[in-house]
Amino acid sequence: MDVIELADPTDAQIRQWHDVLTAVSAADPAAGPPPGAECTAARLLGADRGSRERFWAVADDDGYAAVAALRLPGGPGADRPGEIDVQVRPELRRAGLGRRLLRAAAAGLRADRRSGVIAQVSAGTPAVPFLEAHGFTCVLTLRGLVLDLAALPPGRVAGLLAAAPAGYTLMRWRGTVPDEHAEALARAKDAMADLVEYEGAPWDADRVRETAELVAKRGDELYTIAALHDGGIAGFTELVVPAGGGDRAAQYDTAVVPEHRGRRLGIWMKAAMLDWVARELPRIREIETDNAGDNPHMLAVNEELGYRRERETREYHALVADLP
Ligand SMILES: CC(C)(COP(=O)(O)OP(=O)(O)OC[C@H]1O[C@@H](n2cnc3c(N)ncnc32)[C@H](O)[C@@H]1OP(=O)(O)O)[C@@H](O)C(=O)NCCC(=O)NCCS
Repeated sequence: MDVIELADPTDAQIRQWHDVLTAVSAADPAAGPPPGAECTAARLLGADRGSRERFWAVADDDGYAAVAALRLPGGPGADRPGEIDVQVRPELRRAGLGRRLLRAAAAGLRADRRSGVIAQVSAGTPAVPFLEAHGFTCVLTLRGLVLDLAALPPGRVAGLLAAAPAGYTLMRWRGTVPDEHAEALARAKDAMADLVEYEGAPWDADRVRETAELVAKRGDELYTIAALHDGGIAGFTELVVPAGGGDRAAQYDTAVVPEHRGRRLGIWMKAAMLDWVARELPRIREIETDNAGDNPHMLAVNEELGYRRERETREYHALVADLP
């Protein structure tokens, strides 16, 4: 079985790829449902702006045995890690397929002059020993939390929303940030840098727009609430509503710029987001979020809002020089 690169995937190849994701997900329900077939197709066909992706597969007689995707954000040589995802059919594991795909991706990283690579995996799955056997170390533990909107005590959101910190106003938008706030949003995104140092390059207006366009390209919708102080962004919180009518939205980034911390801006903005969802997105019943295991402050905010713990994901990082 050879490793092949899918440069220009055909419909049949996209279907075979999707079959692997479905088989992997069926074997591990904790990993959540597989993406919809249309999402797989969009990903394999889409050349994201500023974020190229390469794909490899190992074919056997009846389709693909294993697949790997490597996302390369920014241009070649960008000071940002690549992002890798390897999936092997459950019945074909421990036969070296994962390692062979990792090797192909490592060559792709070297060809793109990347020095680092990250992978996001669920705790307690074979991905953990697999990555640790290949030079990766865990840099972030993310606790998966879920908020059941119907279980929110009546008046909780309105009460939090009414407790507006003095001197701040709220602003909200869908999709890409309005131009006049793009730089300020990039600076607020940098406020998360203490959590994810290894991410490299600082945020700028282009990267902020690129992230929003990635979400739109998948067909999902990005909702943002920002807290303004003297006209500038003091903090923001983002929510992504999935394409295709699902009832679970995903919390994305939330950050408060250091000089504005400690004033309950985080919980105020999140309450404003819940209020927005309740008014305009009645189909959304649950919100999921990840919290860094070393960020007790945000965990406290989420638990105060009513989130319950669900699963744990880990972010692994490796130097490309250490890959096979
Ligand atoms: C993680 C995954 C890709 C590994 O694929 P694989 O083909 O089984 O891995 P390999 O056979 O190449 O394993 C290479 C080495 O990794 C380590 N390893 C892999 N799976 C392991 C497991 N379940 N337990 C302990 N070590 C493991 C071993 O050192 C192994 O070498 P060995 O078999 O000679 O001992 C596969 O389990 C999978 O698809 N998991 C679900 C999807 C997923 O979580 N992907 C994220 C990974 S980026």
